[in-house]
Amino acid sequence: MSQNIKAPKKLIEVALPLDDINVAAAREKSIRHGHPSTLHLWWARRPLAAARAVLFAQMVNDPGGDRGYYSGKTKAQADAEREELFQIIRELVLWENTNNEEVLNKARAAIRKSWRETCELNKGQPGFDPEKLPAFHDPFAGGGAIPLEAQRLGLEAYASDLNPVAVLINKAMIEIPPKFAGRKPVGPIPESEKQVRMESDWPGATGLAEDVRRYGHWMREEAFKRIGHLYPKVEITDEMAKERPDLKRLVGQKLTVIAWLWARTVKSPNPAFSHADVPLASSFVLSTKKGKEAYVEPVVDGDQYRFRVGVGNPANFDALKSGTKLSRGANFRCVLSSSPINPKHIYSESQSGRMSARLMAVVAEGQRGRIYLSPTEEIEAIARQAEPSWKPTVDMPENPRWFSPPMYGMKSFGNLFTPRQLVALTTFSDLVQEAREKVIADAKAAGMADDGQGVDADGTGATAYGDAVAVYLAFAVDRLSMTGNSLVRWNGVGEKAQHCFGRQALPMLWDYAEPNFFATATGSITAAIKMTENPLPWMPTQKIGLVYQRDAATQTLSIGKLVSTDPPYYDNIGYADLSDFFYVWLRHSLKPVFPGLFSTLAVPKTEELVATPYRHGSKEKADAFFLSGMTLAIHNLAKHSHGGFPVTIYYAFKQAETKDSGTSSTGWETFIEAVIQAGFGITGTWPMRTEMKTRQISMGTNALASSIILVCRKRDKSANSISRRDFQRELRDTLPESLETMIG
Ligand SMILES: C[S@@+](CC[C@H](N)C(=O)[O-])C[C@H]1O[C@@H](n2cnc3c(N)ncnc32)[C@H](O)[C@@H]1O
Repeated sequence: MSQNIKAPKKLIEVALPLDDINVAAAREKSIRHGHPSTLHLWWARRPLAAARAVLFAQMVNDPGGDRGYYSGKTKAQADAEREELFQIIRELVLWENTNNEEVLNKARAAIRKSWRETCELNKGQPGFDPEKLPAFHDPFAGGGAIPLEAQRLGLEAYASDLNPVAVLINKAMIEIPPKFAGRKPVGPIPESEKQVRMESDWPGATGLAEDVRRYGHWMREEAFKRIGHLYPKVEITDEMAKERPDLKRLVGQKLTVIAWLWARTVKSPNPAFSHADVPLASSFVLSTKKGKEAYVEPVVDGDQYRFRVGVGNPANFDALKSGTKLSRGANFRCVLSSSPINPKHIYSESQSGRMSARLMAVVAEGQRGRIYLSPTEEIEAIARQAEPSWKPTVDMPENPRWFSPPMYGMKSFGNLFTPRQLVALTTFSDLVQEAREKVIADAKAAGMADDGQGVDADGTGATAYGDAVAVYLAFAVDRLSMTGNSLVRWNGVGEKAQHCFGRQALPMLWDYAEPNFFATATGSITAAIKMTENPLPWMPTQKIGLVYQRDAATQTLSIGKLVSTDPPYYDNIGYADLSDFFYVWLRHSLKPVFPGLFSTLAVPKTEELVATPYRHGSKEKADAFFLSGMTLAIHNLAKHSHGGFPVTIYYAFKQAETKDSGTSSTGWETFIEAVIQAGFGITGTWPMRTEMKTRQISMGTNALASSIILVCRKRDKSANSISRRDFQRELRDTLPESLETMIG
C-alpha cells in the first residue's frame, strides 16, 4: 500500500469514554446466558464490550481533525461531535444492545461516514473504495472476541491462530453462523415436545441453534440406551433411613444422582495398616448452605472404615472441614491410625500405580434441593464395571507450574478421567459423527441442496450443514469433559460441580466430584448442550467470516486489512499445552471433518509465542524466542495492515508485575521492544480494566488482571530502527500513566 496515505486521526488516538467501557466490560463478566464465551472455554478472553468499543473508536475519525484535514471547525463543534460519538459508544458497549440493530446501525453509519471521508482524502489510491470497507483481521484470534465484534460492526472478518482449538472456536463464532443463516432446522423434534407449537421464522443462526438442541437431545437419548446402566438412579431404602430420619419420607423413591463424590486413596504408611487404602480427603463437608448443611464421616472398625453421610451442623463441623488433611499440599493423616501421610509417600504410591479412589458420598436430586447419601458397595461397584474402549494417550507436559497430575503418576490426559467417564465421553464423542450422518440425511430429506462438500471445503449444502452441527455437538462434549474428569471440585456453597479450569492450569485434586452426565444439573450433557446452543442466536450473520490456522509470524492475511489483536502475554498462559485437554477429544470427534486441522496427534507447539523456559531450555532462550517471534508477528502488521487506520494491540497486564514506581518488568519490556522494533510508533495507550478489583484471582496472583491497549501507527521509513535508549524513553513516556490509571 502506498506510503502517501492521508490518515485522519481516529477517535481512539484522541479520547475514549473509558469509564463507561470499563464498567460494561466488568459487568459482562457475570453474564452467562447467551454469552459467546459459553460456546467453548478459552483462556483470557477479552470482553466483547471492550473489543466493540475499541474497534469503533479505531475506525471513526476524531472530529478534531488535528492533522488539519478538517479545517474550519471550532473546538466547541469538535467537542460536541466527539460527545455524539461517545454516546454511540456508551450504548454500544451495553450487553443488552449486543443484537440491537438500531444501536448497531448508528455505529455502522458513523464508521461508513468516516470511511467515506478518508476515501475522499485518498481519492484514486488503491484500497480506498468508499463503497467497500476494508476487511478485518486478528492474527491471534484465540476465543474470537475481536473478530466477532468486527463482524458485528459490519466488516468481513478474518481470524487466524496457530492453535487448532482456537481456529475451530473462531469458525464456530464467525464462519459457520453466516453460512447457514436464516435456514430452518431439519432435526426431529423430541417426542415430548411434539405438541408444542414451533416457530416458523428462523432469523440469523436460530435455526442452527435449534438443530444443535434437537441433535443434542438425540445424542443424549442414544447414549443413554448404550450406557445408561452405568448411571442408575438411587433407591432410598429403609436401611438408609435407619441412620437418617430425614430420609424416611423418601423411602421407596428412586432419585436421580447429580454427582458421586470420591476421595483418592493410597496405602496407609503405618505398617500395621499397610494393606488398607486410606482416603486423601481435603474436606468432609459436603454442603455449607445454611439449614442444608451436610457432611461425611469415616466410621472406623479395626482396619476397615466406611463413610457415613450426615446432615445438620454437628459440634465437630469445623474439624470436618479439613477432612484428613494435616497441612497445605500433599500432607494428610491416615484415617485408621492417624499416622501422617507425607508427600514423599504419596509420590511413591501414586507413581507405583497404587493410588486409587473410594466413594465418599452420593448427591441426589430432591424436590427441595440436593440430598446427600452414604455410599453403598453396590453403587461403587457399578462405577467399577465400566471398561473404556478408548482413551486419550497424549501426555501432559512435565511442567508442574501448569500441570501437577504427572507428578502423581497421571501422565497422560487420559489419566485425568475415571473409567466410567472415559466410557461415557467416548460414547458421546462417537455419537458426534453419528449425529453428523443423521443431520446430512435429514437435511437432504428436508430438501436442502447438497454439493457434497464439507464445511472445511467451503461447502454450503447438506454435507456442510452436517459438519456444522457436529462442530457444536463436539463443543458440548468438550464442555462435558471439563466437568467430567477427576480434577473437578465439589462446591459446597453452590452445591455443584466446578469445572477443572478455575485457573489457567490443571492442578492436582485429592477429592473430586463425578457429575452424572444424564442428570440436568451442571456437568450434564443437557446443560452442556444448552451452553453451546444458547450463544448461537447472538452471533452476527450479515457479513462473512473466514478463519485459518496460521502462524502470526509468517501470515499474510493482514494485507490491506484493519487489525486489532490480543497477542499471548509472555509466559502467562500455556495455550497449546492446556488446549491439548480439549484437542484430544475434538480430534476424536471431528478428525474426518477437519483432517488438516487435526492432522497432528497434539496441538502444534514449536511456533507458539509463549516464553516458557521449560520448552526453550532456559529463561534467556525463552525470552529471545519470544522477542524475535513477536517482532516478526508485529512487523507483519506494520507492513501489511491498511494504512488508513492505526493498529490496536491489547496487552495483558499482571498486577503482580508493577513495581512501586508503577513501571513494569520483563514481559512488558520485551513486548514493547518487539512493537517498536517492528516499525510501529505508539500513538496512544488505554488501560482496560476487565476484572473486578476484589476478585480473588487478581490479588497478588499471576492471573491476568487487565490489559492496556496500544494504538500503533507505522513509523516513517527513515525512523525504522530505534536505539535501546529511544526504546526505554518510549516505554517510560507511554506506559506509566496508563499503568497508574489502571492499578489506581
Ligand atoms: C491472548 S490470546 C487471544 C485471546 C482473544 N483475544 C480472546 O478474546 O479470546 C492469544 C492467542 O495467541 C495464539 N498464539 C500463540 N502463538 C501464536 C502464533 N505464533 N501465531 C498465531 N497465534 C498464536 C494463542 O493460541 C492464543 O489463542
